[in-house]
Amino acid sequence: MPITNILRYFPPARSAGSDSESWFTNFYNPILFDAGAGDKANEQLLDYYLWLVGNPTHPVLDIGCGTGRLTLQLAKAGVRVTGLDRSDEMMRHAKQKSRALPRSTRRLISFVKEELHSYKMPNSYGIAVAMDDFLTHFLTEDELVTALSRIHLCLIEGGLFLTDLRIKDPRSFSQRRSGSGHPVVAWDVVHGVRKGMKSVSIASQSWEDYCHEARVLRSVHVFESIDSQGRVNERRYKTLRQRLHSPEEIATAGERAGFVSSKVLDQSPQGTRVLSLVAGRRSGQEEAAR
Ligand SMILES: C[S@@+](CC[C@H](N)C(=O)[O-])C[C@H]1O[C@@H](n2cnc3c(N)ncnc32)[C@H](O)[C@@H]1O
Repeated sequence: MPITNILRYFPPARSAGSDSESWFTNFYNPILFDAGAGDKANEQLLDYYLWLVGNPTHPVLDIGCGTGRLTLQLAKAGVRVTGLDRSDEMMRHAKQKSRALPRSTRRLISFVKEELHSYKMPNSYGIAVAMDDFLTHFLTEDELVTALSRIHLCLIEGGLFLTDLRIKDPRSFSQRRSGSGHPVVAWDVVHGVRKGMKSVSIASQSWEDYCHEARVLRSVHVFESIDSQGRVNERRYKTLRQRLHSPEEIATAGERAGFVSSKVLDQSPQGTRVLSLVAGRRSGQEEAAR
């Protein structure tokens, strides 16, 4: 069946800014996420964030903490950190992983299962981090500004918001597609993934379809769990829509949200642009909303 027919079976994914809890719960499966998150570029990014955060005086907010990859490492480095995520499944997995840490390290972590848009911070953060293409989930400028405003609200004046743009420059999609006219297909297999008491292999395939006008990348993922006998015992289809914001668009949206400056950090790991935004003074309106 041509891929265009396959894509028709999938309803458009909702954006992160809307009330689509079930969509996120379904998209991010913690086991599959951890299986796919271990590539070298991703590890470098994690190390880079640990280095950037350093040894802060205020607590750190890890937005969309997922399975706790950064939250746990920050706590291990002695940093007080809140891991915020809207997904039940991801949060449960993160908490379970944290149980392996010594009690004194665990005490540094607060996990909050909540949507960023409704999160009222119990105290102020010096640094907020949203790792792994978080902002691409917001598909319009207004959604982006709303999300950045919530993040701004969590920070102290002069506080830092660190985030990244990992997915490719839009031009690379036309180059990769040139000649074929078909969506880009990628595949991967990860062995030794723990699923309950068993160890399985996870095979994944994804089709990417990029709309230049909307700057939206739609990817359809098929994940298969394969047992030691080579049998496929679970298959999941997932669709994700992401907007390829440029650093300039994020800077403009950041300004509307109350950030006073924004820059792409020079030493960002290869292929990833890490952005740092500085929070300005809170407006009277924001203070009233607190
Ligand atoms: C790509 S995963 C990244 C996880 C983690 N930052 C990492 O790098 O390992 C994105 C996570 O953000 C969470 N998320 C997405 N939108 C959110 C929102 N509006 N509020 C809270 N969490 C959100 C998802 O549930 C998911 O766990």
